[in-house]
Amino acid sequence: MINDKKVLYSGMQATGNLTLGNYLGALKNWLTLNEEYECFWGVMDLHSLTVRQVPSEFRKNARNLLILYIAAGLDPKKNCIYFQSHVSAHAELAWLLNCFTYVGELNRMTQYKEKAAKHADNVNAGLFTYPVLMAADILLYQADYVPVGKDQKQHLEITRDIAERFNAIYGDVFTIPEPYFGKGGTKIMSLQNPEQKMSKSDENVNGSIYLMDDPDTILRKCKRAVTDSGSEVCYREDKPGVSNLLEIYASCAGKSIEEAEKEFAGVGYGEFKTAVAEAVIAVLKPLQDECSRLQKEKDYIDALIKENDEKAAYFANKTLRKAKKKLGLTEVR
Ligand code: TRP
Repeated sequence: MINDKKVLYSGMQATGNLTLGNYLGALKNWLTLNEEYECFWGVMDLHSLTVRQVPSEFRKNARNLLILYIAAGLDPKKNCIYFQSHVSAHAELAWLLNCFTYVGELNRMTQYKEKAAKHADNVNAGLFTYPVLMAADILLYQADYVPVGKDQKQHLEITRDIAERFNAIYGDVFTIPEPYFGKGGTKIMSLQNPEQKMSKSDENVNGSIYLMDDPDTILRKCKRAVTDSGSEVCYREDKPGVSNLLEIYASCAGKSIEEAEKEFAGVGYGEFKTAVAEAVIAVLKPLQDECSRLQKEKDYIDALIKENDEKAAYFANKTLRKAKKKLGLTEVR
């Protein structure tokens, strides 16, 4: 508990182009959580290093992700928005937790197996111990809840296992985190393959709408989206393409699926797709404008970063000190 509130922790990796799926499925649903929880949102730049980065681009991407959090509406005075790499306790606790994690457990992580297959030329130890760093992120803040998508569920489970193992030996050091389901973000699928999640690492760029895509690109991608046989705009299991577009439209326009279906009754696919694109542009254009505005406010952003880094470090170091002491690491004051 911090300020009588339960703690909620999450973050995104500072790499790749975030997609409309990341926004509608995650970020957008984070905006009001600070009313009920003490929230920490990390820019997970240490995790990004498990894949080779170009320093100049990486630096920009990480800062832009932090700016995006703010532009999207996370109030940086009420949420702790910070860089993982600025709080050294993350790397430090990750080492300690490495000694309480079994190779066999890490070997079972499906994301590791997938990434190792995909980056066969760079299966580094960081990729392998990625979940341990994630456990450190969460446990440092004594988080009660972690909003996670399906792909991170296994990582949250291993976090709980590591914390329980540590607590069983040393007493109550870590809060055991629970997954946070909330209202449930919208799951957005690829425009080219609606059976697959819209992903920032999709090789087919037409499958994903990136948050920084310009209006023409958005319109083109929506127009090219695969639809299904028939001509009716309706939400049905056998119409995954149209259903996904309806989902996108409803979420962007702030309407229910039923309302959207009614609106497009008797409307052809072409006109429908244009309307979807317009709804997406109406959401992304202001977000993009706000990002560019904030990118120019260097001093303002720098001051926020400093303030939030310090706040994060305060809580993280408290937990780290406790863990080190329990382990018997010596202290000189
Ligand atoms: N691994 C997460 C992802 O790729 C990002 C992440 C790192 C994270 N540390 C975390 C998410 C802690 C929640 C809590 O999506």
